[in-house]
Parts: sequence; C-alpha cells; structure tokens
Amino acid sequence: MIVSGSASQALAAALARELEEPLAAVEYDRFPDGELLAAVPGVADARPERAVIVAATVSSDAHLEVLQLQDAVREAGVEEVVTVVPYMGYGRQDEAFEAGHPVSARAVARAISTGTDRVVTVNPHEEAVCEYFDPTATAVDAAGRLAEPLPDDLADPVFLSPDAGAIDLAETARDAYGAGEIDYFEKTRHSGTEVEITPSGGTVAGRDVVVVDDIIATGSTMSEAVGVLRDRGVARVFVTCVHPLLARNAVTKLSRAGVEAIYGTDTIERGVSTVSVAPALASHL
Ligand code: R5P
Repeated sequence: MIVSGSASQALAAALARELEEPLAAVEYDRFPDGELLAAVPGVADARPERAVIVAATVSSDAHLEVLQLQDAVREAGVEEVVTVVPYMGYGRQDEAFEAGHPVSARAVARAISTGTDRVVTVNPHEEAVCEYFDPTATAVDAAGRLAEPLPDDLADPVFLSPDAGAIDLAETARDAYGAGEIDYFEKTRHSGTEVEITPSGGTVAGRDVVVVDDIIATGSTMSEAVGVLRDRGVARVFVTCVHPLLARNAVTKLSRAGVEAIYGTDTIERGVSTVSVAPALASHL
C-alpha cells in the first residue's frame, strides 16, 4: 500500500501505478490549536503486508506528517514500513556550521528512523546523510531523467554545473541526452540569497547551455550563472534540477535572468515538475 504525505500526492499516485500497489486514502487535518493530524483511515481493514510512505519533507509540518503516517500504519499492524523521502528537507544542514549549531540533517534522520524499516531518498545534497538514518537508507540517482524534457535540437550543447558540487549530475544528464560538453563554474556563497559565480574559461557564445543542479532553492545560484552566460553571448539557457524547491521569488528571478525553460522532477511538486522519479524509485522498492 502506498501512503502519501500531503506534499507528495502526485508522486505517490505515480508510484502506486508503477508498482501496481493500492494507493491508500489519507486525511490531513489541523486542530484549532494548530496541531496536525495525518491519518490513514482504511489501513486497519486493508491490513497490507507493507506500507510505503511517500513524503517530501519540504516543511516542518511535512516532517511531522511523516512521523504520524508511520505511526498510523504501525498502529494498524503493518509489518514492513518503508519511508520514501523524495526530497529530504534540512539535508543541506549536514554539519554543525558553528559551535552550538545542530546537525539538523542528523536530527531529522533520527526522528524518521524510529518509525521505519527502510528509507529511500533521491539525490540528497550529500550522499553521506544516508548514514544519519539507523535503518538502511538508499539514495536513488534521478539525474539521468533530467534529459527527458530537453529539446532534441540543442545547438552544440554545454551541460554546466553552477558549482563544483553538481558536476556528476551534469555528466549524468549529458550522458542521458547523448551529446554535449561538460563545464562547471565556481561558487562562493555569501549568505542564504547571495552567491558569487566565478566562470570557467569555456566558450559558450552561440551555444545552448543546460545548467544542472541538485536543488533550485532561492534561484540565486542559477540566476547568477545565467547572468554570466548571457554576458558571454550564450544562445539559449535551460535550467534543470532534481529538486525544484523554488522558494520565494525564484521563478521570477530566473525568468528575469533570461532562461528559456525551467525543468525539475516531482520530488517536489511544482509547476515545473515535468519529470517523474517514480520509475527510478520503483526499481528500489
Ligand atoms: C548547493 O550547493 C546546492 O547544490 C544548490 O546550488 C543550492 O542549494 C541552490 O540554492 P539557491 O537556489 O538558493 O542558490
């Protein structure tokens, strides 16, 4: 039985179709004092052998929902609980950045671990966060799917990582597309929304560039990279990512920077989530 968190309803449905497992009825409610209630009303009668909870932890509420859904299915006697966290919120806080800071990724992983036999996630910012979970945690690589929505007629394409951290993703997307050069920029982050990009010496004039990253959050990284590319006479710029968080004014920022199109997967359900990670997840379930 596939059980959806409120932020992952389309992905859960796609996964249910892919695995030919029933999609559970779920209810999401909130008490007058603000407390959440996520429930799986039919699970006790259905008595499935396993429950696969699919929930991107895009907010603090979504984290809480995961814990409630895990508890609800356990309470109903389900033997095996698998928790799919397509986007792991707090994953970028994978270390204590200053004395007195928490390792937030570890804290949330520990909480999720208490109610599950297995965890599956997709392209975490650092794969090492998988070690923060007590049960086995698998990181699925969905980067190959990022090539799917790209036009077939890219002109002398370059697959560009906006910082050194996403080179592997750019390579995987390029390999899936079947043609293109790889390049990367250097990034210095000054604050949550301010980044500085140092370009490479690669030639982009008159060429189509696909900028590939794991997450687009505020859009600062991508819009800075796009600005540099436009100054250098690029033809078209497509931006693509696994996790289209697109916080605040990210879409406007990217549009103003002059991107041709924004693509992402359904690890986070947004208007740009044109690619489904359901087949990639299904092969690990
Ligand atoms: C960080 O290194 C990540 O790979 C992304 O580049 C970053 O999370 C993007 O954040 P933003 O869109 O806020 O610049």
